Amino acid sequence: MGEAKLRIEPTDFQGVFRSGDMLLTRNLAPGQRVYGERLFSQDGVEYREWVPDRSKLAAYLRRGGRMFPFRPDSHVLYLGASFGTTPSHVADVVPEGRVYCVEISPRSFRELVGVCEGRPNMMPILGDATKPDDLAFLVEKVDVVYQDVAQKNQAGIFSRAMRRFSAPFGMLALKARSEDVTREPSDVFRDAAMLLGREGFEVADLLDLEPYEKDHALLVVKR
Ligand SMILES: C[S@@+](CC[C@H](N)C(=O)[O-])C[C@H]1O[C@@H](n2cnc3c(N)ncnc32)[C@H](O)[C@@H]1O
Repeated sequence: MGEAKLRIEPTDFQGVFRSGDMLLTRNLAPGQRVYGERLFSQDGVEYREWVPDRSKLAAYLRRGGRMFPFRPDSHVLYLGASFGTTPSHVADVVPEGRVYCVEISPRSFRELVGVCEGRPNMMPILGDATKPDDLAFLVEKVDVVYQDVAQKNQAGIFSRAMRRFSAPFGMLALKARSEDVTREPSDVFRDAAMLLGREGFEVADLLDLEPYEKDHALLVVKR
């Protein structure tokens, strides 16, 4: 099953485990790796290493992030799923919930479908995050919107999706250089937080993801 023995312990965040500095999630698809991550077993349970250089959500937790709005039965709208690295860890964290994985690139989508096949709570959707109305017929309730699309107007796209699905919580992975390569990343992050504030959301956390991701931040919002 796993590769080695460690002392794996729960963290304050439901569904997230640690061993020393390493973060892990409980593998919903035992024996399967998604991106070459290491597998470990303890007491008959298999865990997957959650690598902060590969996943901005893991980077956020390693940087001391305080907000983790996922519950075991949460329904998550994940915009910008790529081939499923972070979405697969979110799926591990919400085993009784669902992760709607939206990806615009057909090439990434093909790989995403393979990852979703082993995980019944991941639903792949070939779609566009900027058009939330087009997603509505596939998506039921949403408890959390998680967005990582690395294109212009990230906060605006996120705000529309939060509203369209009446989500109480949201997490926005923001890439400063996708907005304006000439501006200071901290100014881009502040502007995004202000826009979300004007749109009626409370920005509960904003963390720069250095050293794991250069010029990226993760914002957490509540209604
Ligand atoms: C940085 S990658 C996402 C990585 C992924 N969130 C993870 O952590 O595993 C950004 C992805 O967003 C996708 N994307 C960009 N614009 C999009 C849009 N309008 N709708 C859906 N996906 C989009 C890109 O094709 C790319 O796969």
